[in-house]
Amino acid sequence: METQTQTERVLFQVFGVLSIFGKRNRLGLDPPGLRALRRHHRHHREHRTPDLLTVSQASCSTQHLHKMAKKIILVTGGSGLVGNGIRIASERDPRDDEQFIFLSSKDADLTDKESTRKVFEKHQPTHVIHLAAKVGGLYGNMKANLEFFRINMAINDNVLSLAKEFKVEKVVSCLSTCIFPDKTTYPIDETMVHNGPPHTSNYGYSYAKRMIDVMNKGYNQQHGCKFTSVIPTNVFGPHDNFNLEESHVIPGLVHKLHVCTQENKPFTVWGTGKARRQFIYSVDLARLFLWVMRSYDEPEPIILSVAEEAEISIKEAAEAVARGYGFTGEWIYDTTRSDGQFKKTACNDKLRKYLPDFKFTPFDEAIKETCDWFSKNYPDNVRL
Ligand SMILES: NC(=O)c1ccc[n+]([C@@H]2O[C@H](COP(=O)([O-])OP(=O)(O)OC[C@H]3O[C@@H](n4cnc5c(N)ncnc54)[C@H](OP(=O)(O)O)[C@@H]3O)[C@@H](O)[C@H]2O)c1
Repeated sequence: METQTQTERVLFQVFGVLSIFGKRNRLGLDPPGLRALRRHHRHHREHRTPDLLTVSQASCSTQHLHKMAKKIILVTGGSGLVGNGIRIASERDPRDDEQFIFLSSKDADLTDKESTRKVFEKHQPTHVIHLAAKVGGLYGNMKANLEFFRINMAINDNVLSLAKEFKVEKVVSCLSTCIFPDKTTYPIDETMVHNGPPHTSNYGYSYAKRMIDVMNKGYNQQHGCKFTSVIPTNVFGPHDNFNLEESHVIPGLVHKLHVCTQENKPFTVWGTGKARRQFIYSVDLARLFLWVMRSYDEPEPIILSVAEEAEISIKEAAEAVARGYGFTGEWIYDTTRSDGQFKKTACNDKLRKYLPDFKFTPFDEAIKETCDWFSKNYPDNVRL
């Protein structure tokens, strides 16, 4: 008992020094030295029993260790739209006990288990924000449902199984409102994910995403893992995929309007413009993601969305983008293009119960910031 308490004291001091000096990379101690410390810390957590320490000593020591130890937060898909939002939000609200590591597919191909294992071995995360996915708009999904299913199933299985193996304390994964049943009552809530088949346009992506919820339940029930998920509505913002054929609706509109204003061409909106969506700015979503990682403890998913009343038509979204560019030229609706699901209104009551005062960025302001970012970065630094 005495030996263990002394060891813990040493650990407290080491972690204390680290927290005074800030980021461990700056100390040049990472990774082998700290990895050993972290393993040591884990070993003590796992093997400490009331036989060795009294319950009060144990819980007191654990609390101290948790306070002193830095969270290593691995963000898979860190180079994408939502990942960049998290980078911005974490820089705006930095915490001394958190270190973020943002991964892209260049760091590891997460469809490959060994490559995924190497990245877990390298960073020894205590927390994972799991965003990496094969993501696409309506038309991209319609062309390749099988690939969307297989790639996302492989990524999710690898990340969650390795998070369990490496004893990650918490994983927050990302679902989407577009995975809900096609035929449903509105508004959609968190209990309805598995209530019926998804829309035929994106069944591959949807079923793979639904399986994250199945795995979270299993890891929770069988292994006590704190794995959970969030369900965002349509996300937009800087660093999106602005490819004209395969992007989501807002980045597609931004790109098209940019070209229209440059070349003085008519603005073509795909579909009738009548379909309705709730849009969330990537930076707002990221602030909510950080709250989930820090404070939300249910294994069940939580919808991260603006209110039902904030749902707008594609026409209204296009008008906001046109305002963002000051565009007053001719408009065309290409009705040969599909509208996709007419609406998928989601209810944010659960979120509001937890965070009644959270303020979303006004839509026009967020759209303007996105248009400005696109114009500033086009074409060299934009995903096209
Ligand atoms: N965008 C939306 O409207 C929306 C709505 C609801 C939910 N979501 C969910 O939010 C999450 C993030 O979406 P996003 O819009 O930010 O996507 P995104 O911009 O397309 O980014 C995808 C990210 O995943 C990484 N990635 C893809 N395949 C990978 C692989 N095989 N191995 C490792 N990394 C891989 C990409 O890395 P590279 O940059 O190296 O390619 C990128 O960082 C996804 O889980 C998505 O389902 C998105």
